[in-house]
Amino acid sequence: MKTLYFATHNAHKKEEIRNLFQSHPALSSRYGIGDLEDLGFSDPIPETAETLEGNAFQKAWHIHEKFGVDCFADDTGLEVEAIGNRPGVFSARYANMPAGFEQDGTVTEAALALPDPSFDQNIDRLLAHLKTGNRNARFRSVICLVLGQQAYYFEGIVKGSILNERQGTQGFGYDPVFRPEGFMKSFAQLSLSEKNAISHRGKAVEAMMDFLSAPLQPNCRP
Ligand code: IMP
Repeated sequence: MKTLYFATHNAHKKEEIRNLFQSHPALSSRYGIGDLEDLGFSDPIPETAETLEGNAFQKAWHIHEKFGVDCFADDTGLEVEAIGNRPGVFSARYANMPAGFEQDGTVTEAALALPDPSFDQNIDRLLAHLKTGNRNARFRSVICLVLGQQAYYFEGIVKGSILNERQGTQGFGYDPVFRPEGFMKSFAQLSLSEKNAISHRGKAVEAMMDFLSAPLQPNCRP
């Protein structure tokens, strides 16, 4: 059996991915999922690109180069319509961003150098900026899978809206204020399997799993 390493230190993401792989018996008999603890790696992984694709590649390639393993990484952004699809690639660092970021995307070196704010600080800033009007938003996830020397990309999107206040305690990040389309609950009120069935990362992982479970073609991939 081959091992694919997931290049993240985020415990919630690891749990989501393991749950998704286990629900795919054909794949879980061919691939096991390893993580950075298995590799004894606890340093931060750089993510300094300006796109989700760039960050996903940077994270996966960092681990691939260091350990010579097949691996994958995701990068996710919350895109809020009323503030120009921001914070996007800056979602983890949103509360550090300078005034004006919501209007024109202003980002400074000083803001990027600060340690990441808490999930609560990011949510507080978002709610402060969305007092009335359009609350449409979507999560977009990009996975970069590095197999051999080749990078493959998979995308997943879930549309929804931003609630006026936090609801629920499951999940992480912006989950308490994101209500997926067609649901009366926030992500933080859904079980792990319910979230995985409709989420951005769930869809991106599904696409990667379809790719990995496709019959092997000569000269197509390692
Ligand atoms: P990352 O760089 O892919 O870890 O994601 C950037 C930020 O997006 C995280 O710090 C979280 O705040 C947020 N995020 C990513 N995935 C999710 C999710 O599934 N639910 C809620 N927030 C998320």
